[in-house]
Amino acid sequence: MERKNRIYLDNAATTFVFEEILNQMPEIFTELYANPNSIYSDAQVARQIIEKSRENISDIIGVSPDEIIFTSCATESNNTVIRGLAERYPEKKKVLISPIEHKSVLNPTRFLSKRGFNVELLKMDRNGIVDIDDLKRRIDKDTLFVSVIHGNNETGVLQDINQIGRICKEKGVFFFSDTVQSFMREEIDPNFTDFFSVSGHKIGTPKGVGLLYKRKDIKIEPLLFGGGQERGLRSGTENTQFIKFLSDAVKIWDKERGKFLKKLVELRDYFERRIKEEVPEVIIVSEGVKRLPHISCVILPYIDAQTVIISLDRKGIAVSSGSACSSGTPEPSHVLLSYGYTDKEALRAVRISFSFRNSKEEIETVVREIKNLIDNYKTFMSTF
Ligand SMILES: Cc1ncc(COP(=O)(O)O)c(C=O)c1O
Repeated sequence: MERKNRIYLDNAATTFVFEEILNQMPEIFTELYANPNSIYSDAQVARQIIEKSRENISDIIGVSPDEIIFTSCATESNNTVIRGLAERYPEKKKVLISPIEHKSVLNPTRFLSKRGFNVELLKMDRNGIVDIDDLKRRIDKDTLFVSVIHGNNETGVLQDINQIGRICKEKGVFFFSDTVQSFMREEIDPNFTDFFSVSGHKIGTPKGVGLLYKRKDIKIEPLLFGGGQERGLRSGTENTQFIKFLSDAVKIWDKERGKFLKKLVELRDYFERRIKEEVPEVIIVSEGVKRLPHISCVILPYIDAQTVIISLDRKGIAVSSGSACSSGTPEPSHVLLSYGYTDKEALRAVRISFSFRNSKEEIETVVREIKNLIDNYKTFMSTF
């Protein structure tokens, strides 16, 4: 399968596996297969690797090792917090979430609303920033938790989670933030959040590992019952290799962060400048506010995102849209509708997401191809 010359600009969906991780695979899978829950020495080697990985990660992110729960993905981490809190504290029935949460937060809270919880969406402004006064007004004695995504996966908009966390603390409610896209790319201060979630495949591990940070004095019910691994909060034999890969990826990011971020910001800004020059009608979503360094969401004129994605794919370029396509017909993204964009505008939104491996030449190619598509459309329309 020859895919070498393709231009991959969908790094928020998932990204490449670090070479340092790929290179250790044959050995680590052949040598390290013992179940870490057994008592013989092979198993103890695996156990030590897991606990060393937990320590490495906790050192780097500034939490204590027993505040980390390894999971299979961030969807699992998000479900664990949301359902775990609701099961543990059923006497409180109100949950406040931002309207731009990822589906792995939205759908478990929808599940709670079927179980008698009152799930309310917080107000946000036209730039996608949660309205802090609205948050303060809406928290009351019945509120169990607040969930606000740190860096949105479609538009990259960043919320001030320290401020939100401080308010939640003052008012005595739990605060959870989905930090999947911002983890290692932005500062996350664990003093202000009670829970945050992480996904390995967004930072260079294979798919299949994540973690949940949970402040140690908070009790929640587990999602899975079984052998009681991860201090009873995530039963199931631990994935020793992938947990080590997660620790390795965090170490690489920690060491190279300055270099990676500089490149990402350069690429994002370059793309946005060039697309505005070539396609002046473009709208850059959340342009004026603080955003993640690796995501740019653009609403293009005339052409829907599905057509853009398919046409770019034929030219060897992978990008994505925020729209869901479960029914065969694309649905406008709930995130962009919450911004106040119309269905038509939301269906024309294309997400370009960068890795530090991308280059300005690749960006030039994608901008040129988008411009060609739009020019062709205009020429075609002018013949009528
Ligand atoms: C913001 C956000 N939260 C959660 C997830 C789910 O992550 P995972 O694929 O590890 O379940 C994603 C993945 O796209 C995401 O972007």
